[in-house]
Amino acid sequence: MLMNSLKPAQLQRRGARSSQCATCGRQSRKLQCKPSALSGSHLLNDQCNVKRLGRTPSTRISAAAVDAPPAPGARDLEQQQGDCNSFAWTKSWYPVFALESLHPKLPQHVDLLGLKLVVWADSKGTWHCLEDRCPHRLAPLSEGRVEGDTLMCCYHGWTFDAGGACTRIPQLSDAKAAATACASPKACVTAYPCRAQDGLLWIWPEPTAKSAAIAQATPVPGLPSTTQFTPWFVRDLPVRFDTLMENVMDPSHLPYAHHGILGNRNRPRTKIDSVNVDAQPTGFVYTRSLTMRDKPVTFSLSYAAPVSVRYYMQQERPNLALMVTPTRPGWSRLFITQPTDFSQLPLWVRLVLQLRNASVALRHAMDTNAVLDGDTYTLHLGERALPLSVGIGDAYIRSCYMPAPDDSPVIAWRRWLGRHGGGALPTCSPADAAAMPPAMAKRDALDRGGQHLVHCKHCQGAVKQVDVASAVAAAVGVVALFTAVAKVVAVAGAPSAVEAASTAAPAALATALQGVLAQPGLVQAAGVALAAAAVWVGLQRFRAKFFYEDYVHAFRDGRMVTKS
Ligand code: FES
Ligand SMILES: [Fe+2]
Repeated sequence: MLMNSLKPAQLQRRGARSSQCATCGRQSRKLQCKPSALSGSHLLNDQCNVKRLGRTPSTRISAAAVDAPPAPGARDLEQQQGDCNSFAWTKSWYPVFALESLHPKLPQHVDLLGLKLVVWADSKGTWHCLEDRCPHRLAPLSEGRVEGDTLMCCYHGWTFDAGGACTRIPQLSDAKAAATACASPKACVTAYPCRAQDGLLWIWPEPTAKSAAIAQATPVPGLPSTTQFTPWFVRDLPVRFDTLMENVMDPSHLPYAHHGILGNRNRPRTKIDSVNVDAQPTGFVYTRSLTMRDKPVTFSLSYAAPVSVRYYMQQERPNLALMVTPTRPGWSRLFITQPTDFSQLPLWVRLVLQLRNASVALRHAMDTNAVLDGDTYTLHLGERALPLSVGIGDAYIRSCYMPAPDDSPVIAWRRWLGRHGGGALPTCSPADAAAMPPAMAKRDALDRGGQHLVHCKHCQGAVKQVDVASAVAAAVGVVALFTAVAKVVAVAGAPSAVEAASTAAPAALATALQGVLAQPGLVQAAGVALAAAAVWVGLQRFRAKFFYEDYVHAFRDGRMVTKS
């Protein structure tokens, strides 16, 4: 049954009950709803999602309800729920780096929910997070250096421990004066909980002094331990968190925005039979029943607030896991991984995927970055069409026109934001409207070098290898070219050749040319020079893919770009 043929929206409310909020302890009333056939129960059984989404009674929304205002009774209950139904954006873990990209001796700056932070590793390799601002004269601590178990400011050498306490002020030689100054709260920097798990570094964006216990007790939205995943792909994108999250939840754009890479705009679209949204304050599960090649297929998408999105196609383990971290106004950091077990797929699909995964850098340069380029500039411009001050939840839905069932996951996301997260999300709240950066030039918005290469050791390694191979190709080409030229000059300088050139008689010139070409090794040297030049050009074109490649939808007519 198509979504737009469903009955008018109604929450399937079975009744309300009183319960206590686990976060604030207040009594609240929650909806207890009738489960539906497509409730995403297998997703709730996933280890991570059980932790994140819990087993609490949820508000189940029929497909049509996603696109309609809440029923009158439901609105009353929502108002009574108040803060207990709001997601606490600052009381959660956020991924900030792939661990494999971090150097233990190099402090790194990171923006998170508008906070400016620095992460660094102590002598035992344990990562810590501090505010990226020295209390002395405001220098960024991320420009400093690690000294044992402390982080030293590069400007005047003050040092700080993992808890943010000042441990040394070199300019105070008197021990008592130094101890007094170090003990001052003004000499401390704020520390934040930090954790390494599943190949990522995670930060809790509330000070350790305030949140150490709750951070310790809260699991990160990690990956299923039973499955192997590809190394994390990381890229900063000049797109707001709510916009990028909406994009990764929207499968209907794939054949159009990514024609030739992730779909084909000319193929008949898949028929959607029904959709279901199982929403809770900590996320939702969206399930879509499809008919593909006359067979019923179930596609599910789970969102575990604040960062985690997973795709499931006919299986209980995700076949795509994404995380989106809100970094600063107008910017997000995207993390992507896929399982490496393709045993359930057809043989030819398995072979293609394994070939593609053979080189992480090749996959990033040819596929993943190209996919993101297809979206980024569109999203970057599109989100500026609606002022942030309008709101990112239900106001966004009202500002758009989304009549097709394919739009339902986007509506579910915006509705969830409006009900549980709207207005309170740092970097996306109306208060951040003035901080939104102006629109960038396309060249800057698609800067793969600054957005991905800096985070990816695989691509950095590939660029180094390309540079070495380019240098070898250039050297071989130059030697071969000089060899060929020397042979030509040697023959052309002979008296017979000079005489033939002076007469300008065609027969004499042809004879002289034959003499040149008959030189042993000349053709081979010229061939090597040409081949080396072709290799060098090919390598340089491949190298450019790690830094920038224009993406012009108008010229994408297939796997190959027709013109650019
Ligand atoms: S600014 Fe950091 S020690 Fe002076
Ligand atoms: Fe990469």
